[in-house]
Amino acid sequence: MHIGIIIYSLGGNTISVAVQLEERLSTAGHDVTLKRIETVGPASLGTEDAPLKSKPALDAYDALIFACPVRGGVPAPPMMRYLEQLSSLEGKEVALLVTGFFPVADWGRNQTLAQLKEICESKGAHVRGAESVGWFSLNRGQQISSAIASLSELF
Ligand SMILES: Cc1cc2nc3c(=O)[nH]c(=O)nc-3n(C[C@H](O)[C@H](O)[C@H](O)COP(=O)(O)O)c2cc1C
Repeated sequence: MHIGIIIYSLGGNTISVAVQLEERLSTAGHDVTLKRIETVGPASLGTEDAPLKSKPALDAYDALIFACPVRGGVPAPPMMRYLEQLSSLEGKEVALLVTGFFPVADWGRNQTLAQLKEICESKGAHVRGAESVGWFSLNRGQQISSAIASLSELF
């Protein structure tokens, strides 16, 4: 399966998980491409509302994994703007990954996943699954391993 991992990551947490996921899926025999969403200007919190510099095209992929950090209980603005501008996700199999700071998933990560699921489904995608990682947690490594295992088993 040709899988596109479409990611927004400012500080590097989300991409560090996504790269491990890419490796796992590749090892399982999938053709995996990781593409970053970027905003115009220097990468910083202050430019998250800037126009998108890179808007990865999705036609080539059978399946997609959208990955981003939580921002105040919602998806990071560049990911939301990217998803909003897509004309359709009809026929795409989708999985979701988010990272947040807080150890408790209810402090933003679950809400963020629900919002991402809603927008993907509103564009016609079939969302197969979703995982999150809380960065400020003693069992972060375990959460990362578990998220990667669960997401890779979806495809
Ligand atoms: C403005 C702002 C708001 C945030 N809001 C939340 C939040 O609601 N819940 C949470 O768990 N983490 C929150 N975080 C933490 C980030 O989501 C977390 O550090 C994430 O792993 C960063 O990902 P990145 O390094 O890929 O950019 C927030 C961070 C910032 C800067």
